[in-house]
Amino acid sequence: MSSTTVPQLIILGALVGGCRAAAPHTEAGHGAGHGEGHGVGHGAHGADHFADPSRFVADWNSPERDAYQKPEEIVAALGLTAGQTVVDLGAGTGYLLPPLVKAVGPDGVVIATDIEQAMLTFLDEAKAKEGWTTVRTHLSPMDRLGLPDTSVDAVVTLNVWHHIEGRGAYAATVLQTLKPGGVFVIVDFLKEETEGFGPPLSMRLSAEEVVADLVAGGFEAEVVPETMPRHYVVRGRRPR
Ligand SMILES: C[S@@+](CC[C@H](N)C(=O)[O-])C[C@H]1O[C@@H](n2cnc3c(N)ncnc32)[C@H](O)[C@@H]1O
Repeated sequence: MSSTTVPQLIILGALVGGCRAAAPHTEAGHGAGHGEGHGVGHGAHGADHFADPSRFVADWNSPERDAYQKPEEIVAALGLTAGQTVVDLGAGTGYLLPPLVKAVGPDGVVIATDIEQAMLTFLDEAKAKEGWTTVRTHLSPMDRLGLPDTSVDAVVTLNVWHHIEGRGAYAATVLQTLKPGGVFVIVDFLKEETEGFGPPLSMRLSAEEVVADLVAGGFEAEVVPETMPRHYVVRGRRPR
């Protein structure tokens, strides 16, 4: 794994200023902890905390989420083109799948991964219902995607990275899965109070820490400007 280089730090320094601070934001109809299943998914990780999609789907797939989650900005950060293969790491109940399916088109592939088989079973049912013929589901181990090397164009993960342990090593496995030039986009909560939304502060990662995780895994990494009130976007690129 490589260490942080001076050019990478310069990029980080230049771009981190584009990461917005939290702005006042309220949503009627969303319970405290929206977007994460808080009080449920945090604490000890990996042991069935997200095993029941029915507890989360109304919250995670709420159309009102788009107002602050800005899925169009997440997809734009990926720079997808028709026919590409993209992975949604920790897809949960599939909030991101519709815009990903649209972005890669009928000749593309969207691989929805999760460590919880129940989430993937839920997604298989959603696939059939929604007619998502280009979506595949994949059960990942905790510490890697478990997909073939150099097999995908892009990986995105939303509200998941803070759950992953050994992040630098995990990032290195994502790097191996990507084709040269492929991108890994990480979207997660700001490391500050976000009006009752998001994980406990003790679990949060700053955008700079996520950049460091990606650099440790061999990526060139930067913070991407966005307009989300509670999140940041970090993008890594596998060097060609
Ligand atoms: C907070 S939910 C986010 C779901 C979805 N990305 C969203 O934003 O609506 C976290 C999801 O990540 C999954 N997860 C946690 N650790 C993971 C890991 N190491 N690899 C893959 N998925 C993981 C959980 O099972 C859960 O479905």
